[in-house]
Amino acid sequence: MTTPITPPPMSLLAELTHRCPLACPYCSNPLELERKNQELDTQTWKRVLDQAAEMGVLQVHFSGGEPMARPDLMELITYARQLNLYTNLITSGVMINDKTMKALDVSGLDHIQLSFQDVDVAEADRLSGYKNVQPRKLNAARLIKDAEIPLTLNFVLQKNNIDRMPEMFALARHLGAQRIEMAHTQYYGWALKNRLALLPTPQQLERANAYVAAESDKGGLAIDYVTPDYYADRPKPCMGGWGQRFVNISPSGRVLPCHAAETIPDMTFDTVREHSLHDIWFHSESFNRFRGTDWMPEPCASCDHKKTDWGGCRCQALALTGRAEATDPICSLSSFRHLVDTAINEAHASPQHDFQYRR
Ligand code: SF4
Ligand code: FES
Repeated sequence: MTTPITPPPMSLLAELTHRCPLACPYCSNPLELERKNQELDTQTWKRVLDQAAEMGVLQVHFSGGEPMARPDLMELITYARQLNLYTNLITSGVMINDKTMKALDVSGLDHIQLSFQDVDVAEADRLSGYKNVQPRKLNAARLIKDAEIPLTLNFVLQKNNIDRMPEMFALARHLGAQRIEMAHTQYYGWALKNRLALLPTPQQLERANAYVAAESDKGGLAIDYVTPDYYADRPKPCMGGWGQRFVNISPSGRVLPCHAAETIPDMTFDTVREHSLHDIWFHSESFNRFRGTDWMPEPCASCDHKKTDWGGCRCQALALTGRAEATDPICSLSSFRHLVDTAINEAHASPQHDFQYRR
């Protein structure tokens, strides 16, 4: 048997900080956030970017929390551009103003993904836990367009906003966005706590699919539609497969195969303070634990899909079954699928619309 060759990662998600002025009830960051005094300093981030470029990473996504909360963001973007890395900023937009926009423009930033909670102004406030959030985001979008930086709008879909999808598409066109990401909520992290208040009905999902089809027919706006796991009978290849394409670095420097990996209790994650990115990617126990197919239990081990979905999502398996190595319960072949079906039924029976917020 030949040992498969592990390629280097394509994308690096640099979570500069967990600090964020918003409090979205579907936040995918860990329940326990890392504090400001634990964050990597500028020089360490630059060393990580050097190592990423040397390994062949192509794209860096600056994220958080809210990455604009870091005063060295522009310096890091400029540095990444000098290393010929494609730079993307994932932001809520509430800290973008004339001054910060100018600095982002000067940094050479390639692309901005701007998140919106809703098109309904009151509901956007309720979802973000932030008063008057929408005018700030609309102003940010205008400044981004004026600076001619390519723009993607992001909406996280859930039962309270799904029926306003046509207005979301209209807003993206009105703001001159090139792309729109319509992503159904993924239920781990804080979203799992709020699942009853977020999970849409099958009828809503049917309408959502129809809205996407109708909008796609119009052309002129690229749509990234992330379908909801719970209504699928096969899981998605989470992160393109564990340790295969994607590397995530937490604010304190822990190197993770995905943003939720730290929820896995018996796993330790090496840090860029002590090891090189290269060593962690290729040799660490955490990246090799679920890489490839050797770790898989039945039915995955003998399944034709195992190199397509790579067994789905380890964090979802953990969140729903208590065991990260279990078959992803989304899969209809999993003996845990009833857990998903029960959650769907409970969400439909529940009148709950109130959210639990972080603070
Ligand atoms: Fe994927 Fe495993 Fe289900 Fe096969 S059995 S479809 S590999 S999750
Ligand atoms: Fe961790 Fe899917 S979010 S493997």
